[in-house]
Order: sequence, then C-alpha cells, then structure tokens
Amino acid sequence: MLGRLSGAGLRRLRSAIAGAGPVASAFGSGGKAFGTSALAASTNSHDVFNTHRDAPDNNRETEFDFTPANYKIANEIISRYPPNYKQSAVIPLLDLAQQQYGGWLPLAALNRVAAVLDMPEIRVYEVATFYTMFNRSKVGRYHVMVCGTTPCMLQGSREVSKAISDHLGIGVGSTTKDGLFTLGEMECMGCCVNAPMIAVADYSNGVEGFSYNYYEDLTPADAIRIVDMLKRGEKPKLGSQYRSKAEPVGAVQSGKWVGYESVGETTLAGKPSGPYCRDLDAVVLEEAKK
Ligand code: FES
Repeated sequence: MLGRLSGAGLRRLRSAIAGAGPVASAFGSGGKAFGTSALAASTNSHDVFNTHRDAPDNNRETEFDFTPANYKIANEIISRYPPNYKQSAVIPLLDLAQQQYGGWLPLAALNRVAAVLDMPEIRVYEVATFYTMFNRSKVGRYHVMVCGTTPCMLQGSREVSKAISDHLGIGVGSTTKDGLFTLGEMECMGCCVNAPMIAVADYSNGVEGFSYNYYEDLTPADAIRIVDMLKRGEKPKLGSQYRSKAEPVGAVQSGKWVGYESVGETTLAGKPSGPYCRDLDAVVLEEAKK
C-alpha cells in the first residue's frame, strides 16, 4: 500500500512521521470530523455492538437453535477438527449463528454454540466480544463497515464515513429508522492497495444468501452512490470502482479519482523525498576495510 500512496495521503503520512503532531491531527484539515472531540464523540461501533445489554429479545430466556440445515453445516465444520479440539470450531459456528439470526448474536446463540461444542459459556462470550466481526446487537439489513486503519485513513476513509453518516442521517454504530442500514467501522480488511474501501454485509437472506462485499477506491460521492443503489435494490459494481483490479493507474486523492499522470509525486512513480535508508553499500565497504 505504501508504494501506492500518493499526493495528499503521502503528505499526511510524512507529516505524521515527521512529528508534526499526533497522528490524528495529521488527518485533520480543519474538518469537524477529524477534531479530537469529534473522535471521542464518534464511539467505536464495536463498543456499541459488542457489549451485552439485557433486552426482551436478548436475555437468558431468549431461545436460539440452529436450523436442521445449519446443524448439517455445523457438523461438517466440527468434523474438520480432531474430536478433542472441537472447540476450535467456535469462530465458524458463531459466524454461522450470526448469519442465521439476521446479523447478530443474542446470548442464546452464544450459549447454543457453547453447548454444541461442549465448552464453557464464558469462553464463547470471550470470543464473541473480542472479535469485532461479531455483533451483539441488532444491525440493519446492510451493515456498512468503513475501514478505518491507516492506509484507508490516509486515502480518505474518514471523509467516506462522514459522507455516509451525513447522507443516511446516522452516526457510527447506529441504524436508519427503516432498518436498512447500520453504519459501522472495521479494521484493515486486507484491501489496502485499493484504499479507501468499505465492506457491506447483507444478512437478509439467511446462510444461503449471505453476502459480504467489498467496494474499493471510494470517493465520498461513490460511497453515497453505492448506498443509494443498495437502497433501490440495485447491485453496485463490486471491488474497485475505477480499475479492474489493483493495477497502478491512479488513486483516490482529496476525495477524487485521479489518474497517475496527474497524481504527481508518488512512492512508485516519483523519487521518494526521504528520509532515506543509510547507504548499505557504503557500510559494507567500511566493514571490508577493517
Ligand atoms: S487499511 Fe483498509 S483495507 Fe487495509
């Protein structure tokens, strides 16, 4: 990813490395969304989704069981592990339960997984609250997760998140009144080369119809277009919005897609401005002289 960083992203990274201020301030160009107070107010969505709060539909009395079809899948998953290590299936089984239950895990689902795997309930709670892909509260039909890790942040993920938040009228960790969208955030989703990106999970069609799609190289306007298309029941282009894969033809810069001929200095096409690594050849020569 760093090889592809360009323009504004590159300047921000240099600024942060050079000690121009805390890393958070390197992203702030005066926009309210980047201020320290805004960061503090914008609660990490995982704090919202991963904490258990007793509710009428989420307590010790609530019931959950896998469907017969999903028990078949669960048993197939469990068969991949030695019988004395079947607890290793806890993550895929929680994932299965979440897909079956419309995108979140009530206490009853955690307890069911514990029973199926013969493991203490508390061990399942620990896993479900540690891994951020598990939701402990209801989410909308589309769980829109904006990647907030450094490469995506440097390429404009905060602007993308703010654009979606303003457009849908919800904050991070909230769901639209029509139950269609929940805005969340996620750490690196392994797609840094096409930063910034979002993932959208659709939990409305059970395990068979579950989808988890990536939309990459996003400008704020692209993010809004994708959300609107989903709302209309259309299928936005998957992957990069501007290239076929990750070929070096451009980058999102200051909220716009820019071809490489106009990007200016990059760590790929331009001469890096340093600080440089020490001259290793000279070091070797010095060593040889001794
Ligand atoms: S930082 Fe966003 S995908 Fe890696």
